[in-house]
Amino acid sequence: MRLAKVRKSEAESVRRKLFAIGGVRKDLRIVEDGESVLIPLKEEIREGIVKDLDLVIVEGSSPGRSFHRSPYEQVVESADIPADLKHLLPDRWERIGDILVLRIPKELRPFATALAAMYAEALGAKTVCEDMGKIVGPYRTPSIKVIYGRETETVHLENGIRYKLDVAKIMLSSGNVDERMRMAELDCEGETVVDMFAGMGYFTLPIAVHANADRVIACEINPLAHHYLKENAVLNGVEGKVEAFLGNNRSLPGEAFADRVVMGYVGTTHEYLPEAMRLVRPGGVVYYHETCPIDLLPQRPIERIAEAAAGREHRILRVRKVKSYGPSTVHAVVEFEVLD
Ligand SMILES: C[S@@+](CC[C@H](N)C(=O)[O-])C[C@H]1O[C@@H](n2cnc3c(N)ncnc32)[C@H](O)[C@@H]1O
Repeated sequence: MRLAKVRKSEAESVRRKLFAIGGVRKDLRIVEDGESVLIPLKEEIREGIVKDLDLVIVEGSSPGRSFHRSPYEQVVESADIPADLKHLLPDRWERIGDILVLRIPKELRPFATALAAMYAEALGAKTVCEDMGKIVGPYRTPSIKVIYGRETETVHLENGIRYKLDVAKIMLSSGNVDERMRMAELDCEGETVVDMFAGMGYFTLPIAVHANADRVIACEINPLAHHYLKENAVLNGVEGKVEAFLGNNRSLPGEAFADRVVMGYVGTTHEYLPEAMRLVRPGGVVYYHETCPIDLLPQRPIERIAEAAAGREHRILRVRKVKSYGPSTVHAVVEFEVLD
């Protein structure tokens, strides 16, 4: 095989130039040889380049090296796009089960199909979706476009829980993972919990599986999310504890019976605080989510809670930031106990 024999003082600069044109064998080591360095070359390296770089070529061999490239490095290396666009290749993605969700910069859109195939191969995904932006509407529907593969239904494993969902129709925010973990850490033994915005089970499942609640009344208005909620309760062996209610949480029957009420929704959650107040028993705890401008935290949610409490005694237990939500807004959770 061919090696470029380069003076040590020039080795780094020559190595960089050869790397930039993809001329170096990465599976073999660059080794020292006296005052020189031997750089293993790919067979296909052009004679023009050898001349331009004034390389001295010798025949020889070089020891192999175990070589691990990250999925991102694999894509960068094999992507057939202009070199000056390579820095735009996404180095982050959402992985939901065996489906990948990518944000693709507009400059890379013409190459999206081929790039999606590369990401799928590098990361072992069956489908790649482009994240087109916001999560919209009362059902919190994601804006997703399939760019590789077909199937958008998957099972996502997190904290020992299996969440089955259709990623094109139902959201799963990786930014909320800490809050899902937090709900899993509660001790709800002997308790009845109401999940007012249950989706396909984001909080219902950790509360039923890990926090060991006796009963979780899981309310969801979107029939598709409700369908997955019921399926996920079975998938996780808690169908005996989860009572899935299809409809608006304003129609949930009963009052003052819930040991805990979870309000995992953002945007207009405060409009539902009176319902939470109706459902929670004296001594019960409410987990109220709100997207709030940073400079209004914690006053605004605390005032909204006080207004909905309408004189009922309560105390704020904790204010937690879940994630940032735009440049100056945060998704926060305020935990409060209703005392009477
Ligand atoms: C998508 S989840 C929130 C995401 C979740 N916190 C996470 O960890 O990713 C909110 C759910 O509330 C449901 N929803 C909205 N308004 C509702 C209402 N009035 N009654 C019941 N469910 C409602 C939506 O359909 C949606 O499935």
